Amino acid sequence: MPDRHPDTSILTAAELDSIRRPYRSARLLPRRAYHDPAIFDRERDDILRRDWVIVGRIHEAPVPGTYFQTAIDGEPLLVVRGRDDTLRAFYNVCRHRGTAVVEEQCGTAVRFQCPYHAWIYDLEGKLIRAKHTDDLDDFSLETYGLTTVRLETWQGFVFLNLDPDATPLPEQLGDLDEHLGRFEFDTLKVARTITYDVAANWKFIAENYSECYHCPPLHPQLNKLTPYDVGGDYLPGGAWQGGWMELVAGAETMALDGGQGSRHGRPPMCGMTTEDERRIFYYVLWPTAFLSIHPDYLLVHRIVPVAPDRTTVICQLLFEPETMGRPDFDPSDAIAFWDLTNTQDWHVCEMQQRGTRSRSWVSGRYSNQEASVHAFDLMVAERYAGLPFSASRTVRERYDVAPPKDAPMGQMDAGAAYFTGDSSAAASPDHDAGGTDESHAVAAKEGHDEAAHDPHEHDHQTTGRGSHEHATARMTARAKTT
Ligand code: FES
Ligand SMILES: [Fe+2]
Repeated sequence: MPDRHPDTSILTAAELDSIRRPYRSARLLPRRAYHDPAIFDRERDDILRRDWVIVGRIHEAPVPGTYFQTAIDGEPLLVVRGRDDTLRAFYNVCRHRGTAVVEEQCGTAVRFQCPYHAWIYDLEGKLIRAKHTDDLDDFSLETYGLTTVRLETWQGFVFLNLDPDATPLPEQLGDLDEHLGRFEFDTLKVARTITYDVAANWKFIAENYSECYHCPPLHPQLNKLTPYDVGGDYLPGGAWQGGWMELVAGAETMALDGGQGSRHGRPPMCGMTTEDERRIFYYVLWPTAFLSIHPDYLLVHRIVPVAPDRTTVICQLLFEPETMGRPDFDPSDAIAFWDLTNTQDWHVCEMQQRGTRSRSWVSGRYSNQEASVHAFDLMVAERYAGLPFSASRTVRERYDVAPPKDAPMGQMDAGAAYFTGDSSAAASPDHDAGGTDESHAVAAKEGHDEAAHDPHEHDHQTTGRGSHEHATARMTARAKTT
């Protein structure tokens, strides 16, 4: 792959160094990273047009002849299932004089006929008819097919890459299958899509998604169901970062009515273990997708950077087809919950966009609840610098246990890792209890006067999590530290 702008650097050496430290001494990205149009253009070239981006689901083109339109960085793209049942992607741009070959957002076709001069392409993108071209010099139907775009799929998602020389998708995902391979998301169907226009930089939205430090003051409803400091992170071995949060006793999923019965009989998704059913998993798939795995549904955010201060967010809730086919299927509680939570988040992201415009603001510091924000920013900084993603991220086995102060600093070499093992968590008297404190039960929280307290303060003991069945991931993490 050619170098990414090898002659110029977005960050100074000092800035890069200040980001590529363990969070305790690291600084946030500089102010201009969120406001400068030149940096936004570099992100378009070096990230959106170079990395694998989720653009939809395989079920949007389920049978031969079906297609849907999508876009990356404003490029009009067409995803088509060919007669051979293979999904392909093309620029939706006629090779004659550049008209969109397809106008409908989605549909079924046996071939594509450009509406302007009627050049005809087959479902595999080949030009099969172009009237009055038979006597042209250096022209053949074979060489004027629709321009192809790289397409791969994973867990039912359609990924596209505008870079013909990009490395295959598995290299970007890394070891993600070790974490998510037990699920079968291929079959999930979209029950609801909500699109938001957010007046904030796309990275502010990803950073916001990466932490729950803001949950007590901003999301009291969410914090009642999954307290912000009960959870942990995984050590990523790819271009992703992720972790989990634990449902309080009695809560079945994230829904506005919360508590017992909040799944309304919806069974767990395929592949869920008993332990998974007590957790919500949050993953950022670099660069622009968030997957939030609930016991009974998958929440997907796709962020579409539009301008330095503008982002479109496409939020979808996906369920198993059998669940959606139940006569009593009603996802409105989950939809309402996430619409509320999203709106709360966009509000502060927009406030942050306005606030950081002030020249008084210089890159801030991470709290010890924001190691995952730092993990995301590291990926940004490494892309800015044209470096491979390193694994030198601070991984928290548990949010409620601070990494030891003398923990080794993250090394800068690709493949190196700083990992705080679970021994401290297991030894903590607060977190060894096998049971669940009733103060976390939804019923006990009702009527609690949050305003009278520091919203971060709450008394609880959590279920002991010295071990769980994702030990494979942790073993991998440990192996990488040696
Ligand atoms: S622009 Fe498509 S046929 Fe002329
Ligand atoms: Fe939030």
